Parts: sequence; C-alpha cells; structure tokens
Amino acid sequence: QRIHRRDPIGDVATIEYVLGDITEQEVDVIVNAANSSLLGGGGVDGAIHRKGGPDILADCRKLRAGHYGGGLKTGQAVATTAGRLRATWVVHTVGPVWSATEDRSELLADCHRNALRVAAELNAHTIAFPAISTGIYRWPPEDAARIAHAAIKDSPVPVIRFVLFDQRTYDAFARP
Ligand code: AR6
Repeated sequence: QRIHRRDPIGDVATIEYVLGDITEQEVDVIVNAANSSLLGGGGVDGAIHRKGGPDILADCRKLRAGHYGGGLKTGQAVATTAGRLRATWVVHTVGPVWSATEDRSELLADCHRNALRVAAELNAHTIAFPAISTGIYRWPPEDAARIAHAAIKDSPVPVIRFVLFDQRTYDAFARP
C-alpha cells in the first residue's frame, strides 16, 4: 500500500499516513483497537483476528488466563504474536468510549503512549496505528487526531504510521 505522506516529528521519529487497511501493513507492530475482554469484536479488532487467524486469539486467551484475568484496562496495552499478518506483533490497547460529559482524552493519549512503550520493549522500528476510538467508540476524528499527535511526541519507536480507513478520518489525521 502506498504511503500517502511522510513528515518528520521531533529529532528521531517519522510519521506516515496511509489511507487503507491496517491488516495489510508490513510493519513490526500493528496496534489493535481492542476491548477489555481481548477476545475480539468488530471494526479493526474483527479484521485483525479474521485475517491473522486463530493464533492471535489463542495468545489473548493465555493473557486472560494469566496476568490479565480481569481483562485489559482502558488506556493500557499488551502484545501478542500476529499470526498470519505481515506484522510481527499485535499490540492490543483499549480506547475510551467517547463521552460528551466527561473528558477522557488522557486515556486516549495513554493508549498511544503505552502502545509505543510496549512496541519499544519489543525493539520495534515501525508501528501502525488505527484511529483508536473513532469507530464503534464514536470519538470525533479531528479530536482523536489532535490527541494522538500530541501523545506520540518523543516516540521511542522511530517510524509511526497512521492507517486511516476512510477519507474523513484520513483528512483529520493528515491535515498539515
Ligand atoms: N484498517 C484500518 N482502520 C479500520 C479498519 C481496518 N481494517 N477497520 C475499521 N477501521 P473501531 P474503536 C477504522 O470501531 O472505535 C471493536 O468491536 C474505523 O473506521 O475498529 O476503538 C472492539 O472490540 C475507525 O476509524 O475501534 C471494541 O469493542 C477506526 O478504525 C470497539 O470496536 C477505529 O474503529 C473499539 O472501538
């Protein structure tokens, strides 16, 4: 898939924007917009498990049987293998559901920071993010883009690729 734009951020990191499908990306880490159960769902989550095959779910079940018995908390991130995907790892994170009455921005920023930290622990050089929380969790894309960009400053992973599924979300993220 074509990289539609590439910008430098800070001294060490590069940010790329792709209009497309995150499951097609050839990167070290793909970030999954999961839910706290870690056992699958719709949107990006459904696509990753469908295309990656049963190994990812098997890993998720092991996490639930171990340290993550109560599930993954909003804003946290955890890695599994990536099954048949072209990536090496999937880092699952749980975005906050959009709220008009409560400011949950810090949790959305945590998703990005924690996913980057977990990816850096795996020595990842490249990581692909979807627009976390902007689908089923209804976060407005322009606001999610602002939070995501602020959160990836000082990224420990040198190449960050945002993979946006539709033109509106692409425009929100890639806007100069
Ligand atoms: N590649 C890239 N982006 C995609 C893809 C894809 N294959 N499919 C959808 N998107 P969502 P959330 C976009 O709903 O809002 C699941 O059921 C989509 O258009 O995947 O964080 C989980 O299990 C939107 O812009 O994630 C949770 O229950 C963005 O990805 C819940 O949904 C995120 O949409 C999480 O909701």
